[in-house]
Amino acid sequence: MAETVKKPVKITETILRDAHQSLIATRMTTEQMLPIVEKMDKVGYHAVECWGGATFDASLRFLKEDPWERLRKFRDGFKNTKLQMLFRGQNILGYRPYADDVVEYFVQKSVANGIDIIRIFDCLNDIRNLQTAVTAANKEKAHAQVAMSYTLGDAYTLDYWVDLAKRIEDMGAHSICVKDMAGLLLPYQATELVTALKEAVSIPIEMHTHYTSGVGSMTYMKAVEAGADIIDTAMSPFALGTSQPATEVMVETFKGTPYDTGLDQNLLAEIADYFRPIRDNALESGLLNPKNMGVNIKTLLYQVPGGMLSNLTSQLAEQGAEDKFYEVLEEVPRVRKDLGEPPLVTPSSQIVGTQAVFNVLMGERYKMATKETKDVLSGKYGATVKPFNPEVQKKVIGEDAEIITCRPADLIPDELDTLREECAQWIQQDEDVLSYALFPQVATEFFKYREAQQTRVDANVADTEDGAYPV
Ligand code: CO
Repeated sequence: MAETVKKPVKITETILRDAHQSLIATRMTTEQMLPIVEKMDKVGYHAVECWGGATFDASLRFLKEDPWERLRKFRDGFKNTKLQMLFRGQNILGYRPYADDVVEYFVQKSVANGIDIIRIFDCLNDIRNLQTAVTAANKEKAHAQVAMSYTLGDAYTLDYWVDLAKRIEDMGAHSICVKDMAGLLLPYQATELVTALKEAVSIPIEMHTHYTSGVGSMTYMKAVEAGADIIDTAMSPFALGTSQPATEVMVETFKGTPYDTGLDQNLLAEIADYFRPIRDNALESGLLNPKNMGVNIKTLLYQVPGGMLSNLTSQLAEQGAEDKFYEVLEEVPRVRKDLGEPPLVTPSSQIVGTQAVFNVLMGERYKMATKETKDVLSGKYGATVKPFNPEVQKKVIGEDAEIITCRPADLIPDELDTLREECAQWIQQDEDVLSYALFPQVATEFFKYREAQQTRVDANVADTEDGAYPV
């Protein structure tokens, strides 16, 4: 009998980032998370994804929290677990390309405040947009993981993914993530993809999917059987639907097999008990829409990530045009083709989605184009896998417009000094300039709020009455 080689699959827990981003619009507060950190630290997760993505924006904008403070508190609490963040390549955690000096400083400060693993992706899979962040992560001795934004389309063949993976390994990444943000990767395709990737590269392969289309846990099972090293899962109260497959389910599935995670189901149950009331409250308050919990097979038909579906719904509702939903959904793949068939992931998903809404509501395609659509068609976001539609390009940016073909950031002069001057009056810590760089208005509002809070605390200490500031 052949000896069974043990190959425990590793688990990255997403409940503190992607899971609540996908289900409750990133509204979990630091205060809600901290009490369970000590227990989560005992599980033996490969990593806890807890920062980056939309958490930065949402902390400043909606929760009036300093995201850097949150990270430092995580670092204090997670003494044995690696902390992972999601990083949008040259777009950092924002929605446009930044100069290299901002990217480098952001990486440096993320690591200095506690991040171990930086998952870096580009919305066009243009690896030139990843190089600065990968090099910076290596310089800071962090783990640089590069994520391939998974999507479907003529150009996205097995050869395409294998070639991309090889180039990612060559550029100095420590691991590769298959980032399936829309839940498009089907179980048997996962076998094929992971088998090919494992043959082509020697760095670890991590799988990231969303349960939106209902196939997520089967996809993980096939991927693990094909040699995937790590899977991203979420504790059950914030799993499934538009979030990740459930941690406990995957742990149980692999129990007693060569892929046994070794994680303690009793400890996981205690953690789930902690999060369940938070989920229930979110359901009660309407923050968690039960629609996000079901299987949405339309994601396979329209190849649109779950988050983008809900964005489109709210954009149309604002215009009083809910009845145009399916028209817009059908326009999305057409716009995507015009723009070189990019994956749909932040910020390309917003760019394509908003343009599709414009095209439908204006009654004429590209009668109005957003600044971002113009920028994509000018090459400012990088190279797409397919050429742009030349007719559309001509209509949107004109016949003689200059098209960028170099790495876009080569044309962006260093920004940090100017940014520092702009926000000088608000700076209380080095990191503030980075918050300002990403979200100038939102960060300024937050800085004002922070100062008011501090004044209020001072005033209370002085025992004076003061009702002028928001609580
Ligand atoms: Co995700």
